[in-house]
Amino acid sequence: MKKGVFIGLGVIGMIVVVGMMKNPLIYERYQVELEEFESFMSSYGKVYKDDDEKLMRFRVFKDNLSYIRVINLENHSWTLAANFFSDLTFEEFSNIQLDKSLNDETNENPDFNILSSNEKSLNLPNSIDWRAKNAVTPIKNQQSCGCGWAFATTASVEGAWKINGHPLISMSEQQLVDCSSSYGNKGCTSGTIVNALKYVQANGLANETAYPYTASTKLCSKSKAALVVAKISSYNSVQSSSSNSLMTAIVNQPIAVAVDANPTYWQFYSSGVIDGNCGTTINHNVLVVGYFTIAGQTPYYVCKNSWGPSWGMSGYVQISIVDGLGTCGIQTSPAYPVV
Ligand SMILES: *[C@@H]1O[C@H](CO)[C@@H](O)[C@H](O)[C@H]1NC(C)=O
Ligand SMILES: *[C@@H]1O[C@H](CO)[C@@H](O)[C@H](O)[C@H]1NC(C)=O
Ligand SMILES: *[C@@H]1O[C@H](CO)[C@@H](O)[C@H](O)[C@H]1NC(C)=O
Repeated sequence: MKKGVFIGLGVIGMIVVVGMMKNPLIYERYQVELEEFESFMSSYGKVYKDDDEKLMRFRVFKDNLSYIRVINLENHSWTLAANFFSDLTFEEFSNIQLDKSLNDETNENPDFNILSSNEKSLNLPNSIDWRAKNAVTPIKNQQSCGCGWAFATTASVEGAWKINGHPLISMSEQQLVDCSSSYGNKGCTSGTIVNALKYVQANGLANETAYPYTASTKLCSKSKAALVVAKISSYNSVQSSSSNSLMTAIVNQPIAVAVDANPTYWQFYSSGVIDGNCGTTINHNVLVVGYFTIAGQTPYYVCKNSWGPSWGMSGYVQISIVDGLGTCGIQTSPAYPVV
């Protein structure tokens, strides 16, 4: 494989060099990017089907790299960096990684309770982090399947189950992807946390090894789904557009939330607090595992994503706490299971 990569890069290098020979300054610039592309390919084990695709991917990588540099030069409270998604266009990233036509109507659903806290909660702790309380499993990777809704849901059940006095067990996303379609979910295409929690309430959830993840929508395996390890009695919603309500809910357990994972902020997110106007068009779901309010600093939620541990801050992203729907729409429709 190493050799193939080397030859491929040679070909790309030649094409680029032939085009750039006339201008040694530009040539030098592409040399740097070619080297970065080479190290990107080897660190993420990227293999392209032919030289045309390699060249096309290099061009995308190069454009994305300059986008990353430009944003980082603007000195935001968050930084971007090249990562596994650096060879994807904006469109490809959205199609592969995000849920499509996702519309969580959590707060319009009459058949469950809404946790609401509109008073200024003087008793809210300054910070809470459920990772430090061993209620969060390691970062998972949904791969090329738009089912962030399934990962946010299992993560919320894992936390609730553990906090209720049970062991911390990794639960099955695949069961939700394959089996919750009669609750309105559509596997790798789209789904909502509430639909998934309804399924779990009715059927329980198997663990990760009993019903392993395949990153594709399959027929529901009744025999695997029958290996139930965790059950929930119900689920609740958190008052929409209320940071105080969401923070109050987080004090009790990790909370599943819908977000706008706008690629201009999320695709190359590396570190720091996202406090930009990243939108409120819901297209992804994550788990809020805690929040931090430190005097003199922007308060933020800490969210567990499902794009592998190499994305963001070891798989996590910090989102600023503001009023209304919240940064990236994080306060649009939070929900959580009740064990
Ligand atoms: C990354 O580069 C591709 C190819 O030019 C482009 O389509 C995409 O918009 C870039 N991504 C961002 C976030 O600008
Ligand atoms: C960003 O910070 C650097 C270093 O402090 C500074 O030189 C630069 O002018 C800043 N850029 C902007 C756009 O504020
Ligand atoms: C997962 O479920 C299987 C099947 O019920 C069981 O044999 C196994 O012990 C469980 N593993 C964990 C870690 O709970």
